[in-house]
Amino acid sequence: MYSWIRPLLFRLPPETAHRLTLHSLSRFPRLTDLAARSLPPAPELAQKLWNRTFPHPVGLAAGLDKDAVAVNGLLRCGFSFLEVGTVTPQPQPGNPTPRLFRLLEDEALINRMGFNNRGVDVVYQNLLKRKHPGIIGVNIGKNKWTVNEEAQTDYVTLVDRLYRVADYFTINVSSPNTPGLRDLQSEHHLLPLVQAVLQARKRQAALHEDRVRPHWVPVLVKLAPDLPNEQLAALAVQLQAAGVDGLIATNTTVARGGLTSAYQRETGGLSGRPLRRRSTEVISLLYRATDGRLPIIGSGGIFDADDAYEKIQAGASLIQVYTGFIYRGPALVGDIVRGLQQRLAAEGFANIAEAVGSKVHA
Ligand SMILES: Cc1cc2nc3c(=O)[nH]c(=O)nc-3n(C[C@H](O)[C@H](O)[C@H](O)COP(=O)(O)O)c2cc1C
Repeated sequence: MYSWIRPLLFRLPPETAHRLTLHSLSRFPRLTDLAARSLPPAPELAQKLWNRTFPHPVGLAAGLDKDAVAVNGLLRCGFSFLEVGTVTPQPQPGNPTPRLFRLLEDEALINRMGFNNRGVDVVYQNLLKRKHPGIIGVNIGKNKWTVNEEAQTDYVTLVDRLYRVADYFTINVSSPNTPGLRDLQSEHHLLPLVQAVLQARKRQAALHEDRVRPHWVPVLVKLAPDLPNEQLAALAVQLQAAGVDGLIATNTTVARGGLTSAYQRETGGLSGRPLRRRSTEVISLLYRATDGRLPIIGSGGIFDADDAYEKIQAGASLIQVYTGFIYRGPALVGDIVRGLQQRLAAEGFANIAEAVGSKVHA
């Protein structure tokens, strides 16, 4: 089905196609049933992480549904989890358009959206309306006008406001399109920021302790692929010691190279095929630095089961797709799930956990 929807969508400017799809999915969540394939039972792909059961490892990456308007439709595609956001405390328009480019020849996208979103109150209200079962993480960021010295306040506000409706939080300090944001990845900024968020989580968890369903929300940090390897490894060790619950590797890259599309010189973050190799490399170095004890979500250039399996063998417990989903459509989820089942069987692994990190050597 997507094979005939895609040419129509790709005839539209990328952001128009994106808005139209999200709008349709939010109005008609069952639309995806036409394009998604039913998932086979896959008990060997299930994992319990952070006290939550992920029926399989395939999730949707942040940035596609920033305001959580289409979570029911997206979960119907078969994703075991979604990450909504990046949300900021106040609504903000993002950068001027055009700000999203399709690099067809490279199976890639470049975006400089700049955290366009309708703010925390809208996301909160939308998440209250979710109906379809599934895990929904919220990716949080600071407003453009908040200086780095005050960024903690934005992140803490978001945790406080969204604690009830989030299944996990991702601290986003790695998007290239908010000026200065990636400077928050320096040890000097990141550790106090993470500590403030973890304190807020502790406070909120205590407030929720006596509820019928106690709620403890894991906190992850999403990192950029453009940091030097030594800095990534050092950060991973420090974040683990600080008590974060997981890492996401990686966000988009500002690096260019080997591209053929006419849009290659556009400013912004590059995603899709050209990011695959570097993001896998980062996953394995984070896995090694944390002795395989900190769950990692792998993101970057996953277009099929082989790409997903490569990330898992490099140390990712879960994976997320964005650009691959735009190019391949909803059937991608089922294709990856089926392909992973075949690979586990071929390699003699009883379950996915055995495959995680299986290609990483100490
Ligand atoms: C248009 C677009 C918008 C994005 N917005 C966000 C965002 O708001 N927050 C974030 O953490 N990552 C964002 N990302 C990055 C993705 O979540 C993902 O990490 C990255 O694209 C690599 O995966 P992919 O190669 O499968 O696309 C965005 C990516 C794209 C293409």
